[in-house]
Amino acid sequence: MGLLPFPPLGGTQDVFFPRSSVGDLPTIVAGEGVYLVDDRGRRLLDACSGPFLASLGQGNERVLQAMLAQGRRLTYTYSRTTRHAANAELTRRLAMLAGPGLERAHLTSGGSEAVEMALKLLRAHAVATGHPERHRVISLMPGYHGATLQTLALNGDVGVPALWGPLAVESEKIPAPLTFRAPSAQAAADASCAALEAAIARIGPEQVLAFVMEPVGGQASGVNVPHPSFARRARQICTRYGIRLVFDEIVCAFRTGRFLAAQHDPEAMPDVAVLAKGLAAGYAPLGAALVSAALAEEVAATTGFTVSHSYDASPIACAAGAAVLDEITEHRLIDRAAVLGERLRNGLERIAAASALIGDVRGRGLLLALELVADKQTSQLFAEHADPAAVIRRHGLDHGLLLYSRRQNRGRYGDWLLIAPPLMIDEPTCDELIDRLETTLAAATPEILASTGRPVTLDFAATPE
Ligand SMILES: Cc1ncc(COP(=O)(O)O)c(C=O)c1O
Repeated sequence: MGLLPFPPLGGTQDVFFPRSSVGDLPTIVAGEGVYLVDDRGRRLLDACSGPFLASLGQGNERVLQAMLAQGRRLTYTYSRTTRHAANAELTRRLAMLAGPGLERAHLTSGGSEAVEMALKLLRAHAVATGHPERHRVISLMPGYHGATLQTLALNGDVGVPALWGPLAVESEKIPAPLTFRAPSAQAAADASCAALEAAIARIGPEQVLAFVMEPVGGQASGVNVPHPSFARRARQICTRYGIRLVFDEIVCAFRTGRFLAAQHDPEAMPDVAVLAKGLAAGYAPLGAALVSAALAEEVAATTGFTVSHSYDASPIACAAGAAVLDEITEHRLIDRAAVLGERLRNGLERIAAASALIGDVRGRGLLLALELVADKQTSQLFAEHADPAAVIRRHGLDHGLLLYSRRQNRGRYGDWLLIAPPLMIDEPTCDELIDRLETTLAAATPEILASTGRPVTLDFAATPE
């Protein structure tokens, strides 16, 4: 038997990751506000709240106290056999924030589960109301909805069919309305809507259960912000054919200047809005599928819906979620996301103007991205084997910045850095983030350009400061 790799027993989650990426992972030993501290003493500004998640940063006293108080009063009780006040309180607040049409919240332990729960609920409703033929789902390419088997099959990810195809039911994919490289945002929206109609016709409208989309993209599209006509027309198309519109707001809720991105256009409201990540902001695993009281009632009054997980609506997670909502409401963090987002965006645009690598700055509120290009004149994509964002992430660690990117589709739709700091970040820290990003890019750019074979001297990073 060969030697076991270090560590011989257990190890951290990355024992499963590709060897090439593991060496760069910092070991975090502490957290304070928007900063994480690693075992080398580096103090890292968390530029994307982990994966768009830790919206209140580290160590929020109110949330921690609420969890402790809840745990002391009632640690756990099962949602299939009992009720409890923390569940009722969280869903009451969610319904108040979401507004008419989304009065009920089915709680889960995370995002993928919540997306799946939304589809199961819609399927149960279709069957209960006499439409058992509705089972097909349409989603966007590129897109991301999770890592359970069924959400993997929803993901707009070209790698899915070969790896997971035999285990899951693939959704029908239509092109996402990507704005960068399109003739215009409107043209991209028009093309996606035409593709949606064509997909519905191809499948047969009576077979289609739901169209699932991110109203503002996350990691899979580099925060693509579709032209507003896209969501509105998708709503009209779905309504015309009796298809349910599901907004995956797991990344974008709380960040775009509204509680839900859907609330930017009341005429494009979905049938289901799915939340997770920022909902309990890293303090507890929590997700939610929001639906209308009418839909929930129709299911409950007929077949009923009893699909559940043991941790659904767990008291401590509910208490964490309610305390997060308290913080967000009291400190007006949703409004502040719009204001601080502008400040960050201005800084990013200044950096982009001077950089040979940044082809686009986009996003809404505190949900932003920089698209990296191999050639700024032509917006050329990086080669399949390249991972420019990973190079920048590595340099970020030496310049006090924890960055997030995840290369999906082997860069076929682009490469990007995702910028979505905790919502409680203040103005000086936004400026610090920009400063650290500037020095990070200056250090990383020569290495990235060298890998493309382009002359390094053309880049701003080579210019003396
Ligand atoms: C848009 C979107 N949907 C769903 C998910 C899945 O959420 P989770 O990782 O909590 O299962 C993610 C996670 O990154 C996401 O970005």
